[in-house]
Amino acid sequence: MLSHRSTQAEWMDAADATQPAFEAALRDLARINRLSLAHAPVLRWLEGLAPPGGRLSVLDVGAGGGDLLAAIADWGIRRGVALDLTGLDRSPWSATHAQAMGVPARWITADLFDLDPALRFDAVVCSLFTHHLDDATLVRFLRWIDARATRGWLVSDLHRHWLPWSVVWCGVRALRMAPMVVHDSTVSVARGFVRAEWERAVASAGVDARIRWAFPFRWLVHRG
Ligand SMILES: C[S@@+](CC[C@H](N)C(=O)[O-])C[C@H]1O[C@@H](n2cnc3c(N)ncnc32)[C@H](O)[C@@H]1O
Repeated sequence: MLSHRSTQAEWMDAADATQPAFEAALRDLARINRLSLAHAPVLRWLEGLAPPGGRLSVLDVGAGGGDLLAAIADWGIRRGVALDLTGLDRSPWSATHAQAMGVPARWITADLFDLDPALRFDAVVCSLFTHHLDDATLVRFLRWIDARATRGWLVSDLHRHWLPWSVVWCGVRALRMAPMVVHDSTVSVARGFVRAEWERAVASAGVDARIRWAFPFRWLVHRG
């Protein structure tokens, strides 16, 4: 069942997703990110990019509820790095939710491929985003992120395997998560990646990137 990337659609990507359903999903995604230690590898990677006393502009693509940007903001305060943070998401409910949560970032509501091509950031990150793309669009995205990041970029996304699929299936039900999350979580794992697929995508895009494992069930793909 998980031998190939699934093409099943996620409810989150439906144009008619309602604000209450989408925001409930964002709240539960933030819980999942906390429980699955999703922010730590991104913060460790940023440490290599920005010494204390430095400045850094960061774009988060498919930023959802903005909990990663909030964690980056706290990290910047602890490390003494002056940050200029931007969230990009095509759902208008993402901006509404992030602002209500007090995420200290400016927000752009747009499809990423419609972003002003002249815009550049020191670092571009994304988490749980690339599995939303089909294989051809993923290659296009890798070229896009490589062109937009002056100092480095990092992609963090799910490993496609029966173990995370089963953990997620049980976890979202045990924790009584929102219906959109119950549906999309296992679809997300099934749309995720194995290492060989990242190697092929990176080679097809012609970008210079490292591929690393992140505990418990993620791949990190990054330049810088
Ligand atoms: C699974 S959520 C991940 C949210 C957040 N990064 C996290 O880790 O919790 C994926 C997000 O990507 C956004 N998205 C999907 N396709 C997009 C596109 N083409 N351009 C911009 N945002 C997109 C969705 O609206 C959604 O908020």
